[in-house]
Amino acid sequence: MKIIMLGAPGAGKGTQAKKIAAKYDIPHISTGDIFRANIKNGTELGKKAKTFMDQGLLVPDELVVDLVVDRVNQEDCSKGYVLDGFPRTIPQAEALDAALAKMNQKMDYAINVEVPDENIVQRMSGRRACVDCGTTYHIVYAPTKQEGICDNCGGNLILRDDDKPETVQKRLGVYHDQTQPLIEYYTDKNILVEVDGTIDINDVFAEIVKVLGE
Ligand code: AP5
Ligand code: MG
Repeated sequence: MKIIMLGAPGAGKGTQAKKIAAKYDIPHISTGDIFRANIKNGTELGKKAKTFMDQGLLVPDELVVDLVVDRVNQEDCSKGYVLDGFPRTIPQAEALDAALAKMNQKMDYAINVEVPDENIVQRMSGRRACVDCGTTYHIVYAPTKQEGICDNCGGNLILRDDDKPETVQKRLGVYHDQTQPLIEYYTDKNILVEVDGTIDINDVFAEIVKVLGE
């Protein structure tokens, strides 16, 4: 099962992608997480990506496409995978389709998690992420057992650099300009699934499972 998560920044793509990956036993591939790991490790890719990410802009397509195509060709992706944060532009979607076509494959679902802009800024200011394992929480909607400490690995929680309200506004603008056109792209391919992302996290997941099957 090959799945794409679509949605605005903060819509809950990562939250739902992790649940899908666990239930269906497929890898969760988040380009944002890959870039953040590279930034943390001080790699060349990380240095390049950081200049764009901190401004709320997209990293150029050429830095993203090969990375994802290489990743989905790895052995653990043979049963499928869930892509989170990729593709984000029409050229990325076309490059993915072209790479899959060479292997006689195609994506099965593009799940659009819908959340209006008004909800997003408020949601992002409450998000906390683990510096060590990247697990995401929310101070109100998905709290940790112990404040500021990751349930998963005991790491410290931080507010992401790009979650400041002004950067979130910028990311929303970029989303509407460059990523939202993918909704039509995948509608035309007959694989688009729309879910309401404003309801409780577990209810959003239940809607997704209805589509993907038990
Ligand atoms: P990325 O890390 O992908 O960020 P994003 O798309 O802006 O999305 P987020 O991770 O902010 O949100 P999310 O939808 O995953 O929401 P989450 O589940 O955390 O990318 C970061 C940057 O990297 C980009 O800006 C770009 O520069 C670069 N980049 C990455 N991929 C790229 C690409 N392909 N091309 C070019 N550049 C790329 O949820 C948000 C919060 O809400 C959490 O606190 C969560 O607990 C809470 N929450 C989730 N669901 C609910 C719910 N139903 N109710 C209440 N709270 C909820
Ligand atoms: Mg995310």
